[in-house]
Amino acid sequence: MLKTFSSVAALFSAFVIAWGQPAATFDPASKVFRLDGGDVSYVFGVNSSGELQQLYWGGRLAKTDQFPRAVPMGEWASFDTPYTNTPQEYVGWGAGLFLEPALKVTYADGNRDLVLHYESHTITADGLNVVLKDIKRPIYVTLHYAIDAESGILARSATIENGLNQPVTVEQAAAAAWALPPAHYTMNYLTGRWAGEWTLTQEAVHPGERVIESRRGSTGHQANPWFALQAGEANEDQGEVWFGALAWSGSWRITVEQDQLDAVRITGGFNPFDFGFVLHAGERLQTPVFYGGYSAHGLGGVSRLLHRFEVEHVLPRRAGANTVPKPRPVIYNSWEATEFNVTEAGQMALAEKAAALGVDRFVMDDGWFGQRKDDHAGLGDWYVNQEKFPHGLKPLIDKVHALGMDFGLWVEPEMVNPDSDLFRKHPDWVLHFVGRPETQQRNQLVLNLARPDVRAYVLGFLDKLLTENDIAFLKWDYNRNWSEPGWEQLPAAEQKRVYVEYTHSLYGILAELRRRHPKVELESCSGGGGRVDLGILKYVDEVWPSDNTDPFDRLTQQDGFSYAYTPQVMMAWVTDSPHWLNKRSTSLSYRMLSSMQGSLGIGANIAKWSEDEAATAKRLIAAYHQVQPTIVQGDLYRLISPRNGSEFSATQTVNREKNQSVVFAFIHSTQEGRKFPLLKLKGLDPAAVYALTPIEGKTRPETPATASGAWWMNHGLEFDESFAGDFQAAAFRLDRK
Ligand code: GLA
Repeated sequence: MLKTFSSVAALFSAFVIAWGQPAATFDPASKVFRLDGGDVSYVFGVNSSGELQQLYWGGRLAKTDQFPRAVPMGEWASFDTPYTNTPQEYVGWGAGLFLEPALKVTYADGNRDLVLHYESHTITADGLNVVLKDIKRPIYVTLHYAIDAESGILARSATIENGLNQPVTVEQAAAAAWALPPAHYTMNYLTGRWAGEWTLTQEAVHPGERVIESRRGSTGHQANPWFALQAGEANEDQGEVWFGALAWSGSWRITVEQDQLDAVRITGGFNPFDFGFVLHAGERLQTPVFYGGYSAHGLGGVSRLLHRFEVEHVLPRRAGANTVPKPRPVIYNSWEATEFNVTEAGQMALAEKAAALGVDRFVMDDGWFGQRKDDHAGLGDWYVNQEKFPHGLKPLIDKVHALGMDFGLWVEPEMVNPDSDLFRKHPDWVLHFVGRPETQQRNQLVLNLARPDVRAYVLGFLDKLLTENDIAFLKWDYNRNWSEPGWEQLPAAEQKRVYVEYTHSLYGILAELRRRHPKVELESCSGGGGRVDLGILKYVDEVWPSDNTDPFDRLTQQDGFSYAYTPQVMMAWVTDSPHWLNKRSTSLSYRMLSSMQGSLGIGANIAKWSEDEAATAKRLIAAYHQVQPTIVQGDLYRLISPRNGSEFSATQTVNREKNQSVVFAFIHSTQEGRKFPLLKLKGLDPAAVYALTPIEGKTRPETPATASGAWWMNHGLEFDESFAGDFQAAAFRLDRK
């Protein structure tokens, strides 16, 4: 059972205040909590009913600003209780709640009423913990808050504890609920499908509830756990926007609810669909973290805050390293060149070509293990295929090293083909319901990673692979979603734990691999962008955004991706033309520039490239290497959106010191002779002088070689008349003199 912390908390908060800089404060007179960070203040208090009530979330307030004691909202009519109308930090389902609860439980005796009141709190170094307790029964919820001092991004989560001596079933558990001030909101979220991820979808928030979710067991291509709500006239560059991102790679749900009084709440956490987590006496359930933030600088401001926060606070750091993760190596990946047909000689030949282009890392994709000739067999059997690699992986790895690159390998650890030794030996290791058909997708089944024996097997083979081979990088793939998610070893009532424990087990394996092999880097791939979220990004260095590598489609996908995630993690390969998916032909320069907006890779069959093509790629890889930190870690400005059938698009990044900027410009298809728009740059130091250098393409002949930041931002960058046609690309850099 949890103890009450109030006396300790009072002492501790006094101590922190004495030192002057608490991220969180508590005013015992008004019972108001306040968190300040960056340009943001977040305020809530214990209201006169004992509930935790949200009071304010927005631009930073003055230190001296005070809030009175929170007062619950009144009844609207006899149909609506104050309990429903009052925006609570974390509301239990009970007492006549008609909106989305944060927590819903069923007790062993059939009672289902949960009313959470403030119990105690502690102030921590970067936030606070607040303990709530049901008004009658020892069900405790500890709400965790941390605020980032620079971005003002909050990290919220909850720990639910059963203090009864009987089990309680948790049927719905949010990580957090956020309340927004009344306004007309436009909701932004990311939707898609395989090969079509990262569509920015925008719609007005109306009365009722909008649900974005995954019921698939993992994050999903179809919707991503990120949202941004623009108030009123807010746009890309200005106006108030509230945003959030859920750090969870299992089934998830976010609801955006506008109630009858026009108040808006966002609630997110485990997906309550098919959920039921039995908490035994004394047991706890920890929710994922739901990050939330605010920007007064439009959607552009949101992504700049998120990008920096992700690089500095979410992505894994090398053991002992005090610096933010470095930009990604330029990789070569064999998948589109060879598919499953990998051989020692073929991979070595590709490695030679890749090294000559200036590639840093050579990655061998699917096909190297077990009896893997196509997608019908081999998953689960993680031994090197003797026919393809008679002497193991060592000769290839040695060759890659001798060429000056490091070596990466594809794995899909959570899956098994029924045609595999592993499945023949352990048919019960897969997610299934006893006596029911096992639905296959891509001829494979999902291993139940929540089982300790499966977890030990997966960790064991990966550890062995990394111990026996000098491997710098694993592309960790996951090529289907769940079906029949049974876990027969557990009692019937407890099998739904799989929704929580599978994902924890995945995170546990990733963390343990990083601990045992601190130099190994990881990529999250799920048939492209099916598992990208702030949960997995704590354990992996990069993600594969989409199997769709068409450079034109990628412009829109990358644009969508950039709303929520940093270009640092956005791998972008240059592949062959015509493209396999859209049959579209594009120049190599266009393909290169499209990929150079993120973390560049080459995924083409470079064995077939002409000398000219190799020279273009080599030149542009070298140019990319010079400016990569600015592109992937700088402040991103989406100057012209490629969305909605736009003829043009353009992005610009500026590094933190404002001494370098990189501009990318793309023409989809020139129409009616329209010139590429004048690009007024952003984010530069107006007083500094910057020299303009083309990476690809030309500006108007009159363009000065150097000019002030003010000139580039106010006068703008004009393109040469020759910049026209179909699928054209240009890129420039500006360097402070
Ligand atoms: C998935 C990945 C691809 C490739 C194949 C291999 O589709 O997204 O990049 O690795 O699997 O089977």
